[in-house]
Parts: sequence; structure tokens; C-alpha cells
Amino acid sequence: MAILVCGGAGYIGSHTVKELVNTYDVVVLDNLTTGFEKLIDSKATFVKGDLGDQVVLDEIFTTYKIDAVFHFAANSLVGESVEKPLTYYRNNVGATLVLLEKMIEHGVKRFIFSSTAATYGIPNTDIITEETATHPINPYGRSKQMIEQILADMAHVYDFHYIVLRYFNAAGAHESGEIGESHDPESHLIPIVLQHLLGQRKKISVFGTDYETADGTCVRDYIHVTDLARAHILSYEGMADGRVANNVYNLGNGAGYSVNEIIRTCERLSGKQATIDYAPRRAGDPAILVASSQKINEEIGWKPDFDLTAIIASAWKWHSK
Ligand code: UFG
Repeated sequence: MAILVCGGAGYIGSHTVKELVNTYDVVVLDNLTTGFEKLIDSKATFVKGDLGDQVVLDEIFTTYKIDAVFHFAANSLVGESVEKPLTYYRNNVGATLVLLEKMIEHGVKRFIFSSTAATYGIPNTDIITEETATHPINPYGRSKQMIEQILADMAHVYDFHYIVLRYFNAAGAHESGEIGESHDPESHLIPIVLQHLLGQRKKISVFGTDYETADGTCVRDYIHVTDLARAHILSYEGMADGRVANNVYNLGNGAGYSVNEIIRTCERLSGKQATIDYAPRRAGDPAILVASSQKINEEIGWKPDFDLTAIIASAWKWHSK
């Protein structure tokens, strides 16, 4: 039996494939619009194609014995989703529906879905649990929430089981140093700061200094990409042996760091000093997003191995290569 990883050429997908291939046969489906073929581990089988392409899906599900689908393929930039809502609903909702229909048609019963802290919108609590109300404030968060609701409806009527993983801020690079965070264009804080410290960008813009946080900059919960990858595998194994199904879990470290704290940690680990431009707020940014991951710890036995220093050290190692 094999695992189909949709979006396995992307940042989080490729790190999960690298962990999966140690134990499982893996088929990667990716159209390479935002992913990179060179990130896919050579032990995986790569199929270049669209998630919404019924012919490609039929071919995969008839050629390989797929036991579960890990679904990472999505557009994932909050700001871009406000500018291009139809693109986000087409790719994140429309194409996912085609995949889900094909899974039902071919009798594939297990699904692990990449969701996001953006489903919570502006939470009314400092530590977000899965019970915290979801009120997404942008099309990206809404597109993920829609699929979460569709999965719950499917599990009522089909022999179909899912786990939803709501990621907080994924960061860091694989310990092999072979793959790391790579988006084009890059919009994420840690790679931008590290690229600047390596002389690849003139300065860093800090978006907003007047938030209701200790130093006025936004606070986020950063989680190492390998910790995320391991959570997927544990979730799959928990589903496969019947311990868990049809659940939603947060994935974070449970610690919040401000934009200024991230920049200072990057400076400390690189031994270099940043040039900072204090800019206005970026649209759609909540002040604080910090997760409780107690539920997945109790039910699946997952806990993060990497703290902020280890996350940024791994990213620095990869970027400076
Ligand atoms: N930031 C800056 N300057 C930059 C880039 C980012 O100040 O050049 C700030 C942002 O305003 C934000 C923080 O750094 O306050 C983190 O920003 P990122 O762009 O790195 O990450 P986001 O929190 O916006 O979003 C990420 C994922 C989303 C996911 C979200 C969930 O990209 O897909 O985490 O928390 F929804």
C-alpha cells in the first residue's frame, strides 16, 4: 500500500515525503506551480499533474494501491487570497472536491488535510484550542474552513475517515540540509530575515509596531516543518490502526514570539546585524496567534522536538548553503 501526497513538491509536503519514504511507498502529485521538483525525495514516485484533473487521479488510483491521501496542495498566502479570491476557492476548494470525489469512487478511505491557524481569524483568546470559534477573516482561511466542513459531512455518510491539522507558522529546514523553506516570491518572515542577513535583500520591513502586544509587533507560534511532518505520520498511523478518526488538531509549539524577537534570534544565530524598516500593518494580520497542541499530544502522542532556536538554526544552516 502507498500514500499519495498531493503537493509533495511544496515546502511542508516535501519535508513530509522525506520522512514518509523511510517507511512507506510514496506517490507525489504536484503541478509544480509553487513547488519544485528538486525538493521531492528520489525514493518517491512523482506524477506531474493537477489535483482537479480527474484523468490523472483515475490513473493514480488505479495504478497504485493508495491507502491514504495527505493533502498539502493549496495556495496559502493570506494577502494574495484577498486579491484573488476566485483562484483560492478554485484551487483550494474546487480541486479538493474533485480529489475527494475520486477517493470515494476508488474506495480510498483515509485523508489527512493541511488546514491552518487562519481558520480562527482574530481569536478572542491568547492560547487557541480546537474549541476556539473559527471565524476566518480572509478567503484563504475560509477556503480551508469550507473543506473542514465538507470532510465532516462526508464522514457521516461514507466509509471515510479524516484528520484535519491546523498548522500555525511552519518554519525551519530538514536536518539533512538538503531541503528547506523556498517560496517564489518569498513572503514569510524567517526566510526573509535570513536572506537579508546573507546580503540577498537590502532590508527587512516590520509590518506594524502598534499591535496590542508587549513590543507592538505581531506574535506568532513557530513550528518546525519536521515536527509537522511527524504529526502527519502519527495521525495516519493512528487512523490506520483505528485509534483516531474524524478529528481536528492544532499544531504549534505553544509559545509566541514577536516579529522583533524573531529578528533578534536570527541576528544572534547568524552573528550579523539587520537593517530594519518599520512599516505599516499588513492587511489581514491578527495580533497574536498561539496554539495549544494539548489535544494531539493526548490523543496521538505528538509533541514538538524543536524550539525556536533550533528552528531558526536549521533554517540558517540551509539558507547559508
Ligand atoms: N512579517 C513582517 N515582515 C515581513 C514578513 C512578515 O513583519 O517581511 C510579519 C507578518 O506581518 C506577521 C509575521 O511576520 O506578523 C509572520 O508572517 P508570515 O508571512 O511569516 O506568516 P503568517 O503568520 O502571515 O502566515 C503563516 C502562513 C499562513 C498561515 C498562518 C497561520 O503563511 O498560510 O501562518 O498562522 F495561515
